[in-house]
Amino acid sequence: MADLLLGQVLRFEGDPMVEGEGAARHDSQGAVLVDQGRVVAVGPADRLRAAYPQAQVTDYGRALISAGFVDAHVHYPQTAMIASWGKRLIDWLNTYTFPEEMRFADRAYATEIANRYLDLTLAHGTTTVCSYATIHPASVDAIFEAAQARGQRIYAGKTCMDRNAPDGLLDTAQSAYDDSKRLLEKWHGVDRLSYVITPRFSPTSTPEQLAAMGTLWREFPDCLMQTHLSEQPDECAWVKSLFPQSRDYLDTYEAQGLLREGAVYGHAIYLTDRERARLIEAGASLVHCPTSNTFIGSGLFDMGLATKLRVGLATDTGGGSSFSMLRTMAAAYEIAQLRGQALHPAQLWWLATQGSARALHAEDRIGNIAPGMEADLVVVDLASTFAIEQATRRAGTIWEALFPTIMMGDDRAIRAVWVGGKPRAD
Ligand code: GUN
Ligand code: ZN
Repeated sequence: MADLLLGQVLRFEGDPMVEGEGAARHDSQGAVLVDQGRVVAVGPADRLRAAYPQAQVTDYGRALISAGFVDAHVHYPQTAMIASWGKRLIDWLNTYTFPEEMRFADRAYATEIANRYLDLTLAHGTTTVCSYATIHPASVDAIFEAAQARGQRIYAGKTCMDRNAPDGLLDTAQSAYDDSKRLLEKWHGVDRLSYVITPRFSPTSTPEQLAAMGTLWREFPDCLMQTHLSEQPDECAWVKSLFPQSRDYLDTYEAQGLLREGAVYGHAIYLTDRERARLIEAGASLVHCPTSNTFIGSGLFDMGLATKLRVGLATDTGGGSSFSMLRTMAAAYEIAQLRGQALHPAQLWWLATQGSARALHAEDRIGNIAPGMEADLVVVDLASTFAIEQATRRAGTIWEALFPTIMMGDDRAIRAVWVGGKPRAD
């Protein structure tokens, strides 16, 4: 039987990074009709109630129904070490990250963390993630099995590293190719799961390994490829010394066939003019990870790029300091303010849903509410705490009502989550 969800409904009919808030559609008494995993209709509640009298009604009152959040860059294996103190990127990787990722040699631990991670993120309203696993093939099986059991659309891949990491975390160019290919053939396109070719970043991959990833990507061109680019100055200097022949950081990927549409680069803060121009020309995607960029002290992403190429938004767990895409929108707002730009709530919400979906080339399936889209939805309470509720009492517009939740909200604001057309039972 079809379900009719009633509440305030927020969706997009254009790109607010280009068109401003006029790209958003808001029904203060709206409805979403869901059947067999998909959105069938969206519009004013009275019209949909009359048109679909048989549908089972769930009335969310004044809560806001939106597409579920899409977190375009995460490391699920870093769940248990989130909020580790006092380091910058390379030290942080060596001190906290690599020792934690070593534990994923134990399949039972990988399964425990994969399930914990998806439970946590669903509780925060995130229905799709694009995750790095560890070098262990079973860590990919663990996250895909956990997502499959929940009916989620997720993206993930085996992290490949063949240098500059502890012995227990190294593969080789050949084993990375073989393991990635086997996992890709096992999982890509199964149910709602997509494999992502995942060299961690140039400092931990030899040119031979990057070339092997480029070869694999040519063999499976419809996959995404994810990696990191220009996150901190020390990292960029290290890349320069490791790749003396390369024109710049991006060239270390480009030279090995790892730059084209479907490439998804995390961070991308310290870009040269050439890199910016090539990223735009190639149609690559960038992912802004604002809580990570402040937490690890990386720098201020240029959101002006969002009108020129696909830009998604992400927590970057556990470099990021939160599982919440609300908190992540708040950090994106603050970073843009430091760069002299005030992102509108419509732009922030779009980045956390349709923008991230577009960065993953999934904008026709997830990240928005429209007929035919997959029914991954979040229902947000806009008065989830007294601090937020009192700040919205004089709100005259949906944006004034929504912005305090963006800035101060967390998982207490998540009233319900629907995954693949089914309400998630808590
Ligand atoms: N660069 C390479 N690996 C990582 C990682 O795990 N987190 C972050 N933030 N940056 C990286
Ligand atoms: Zn990352």
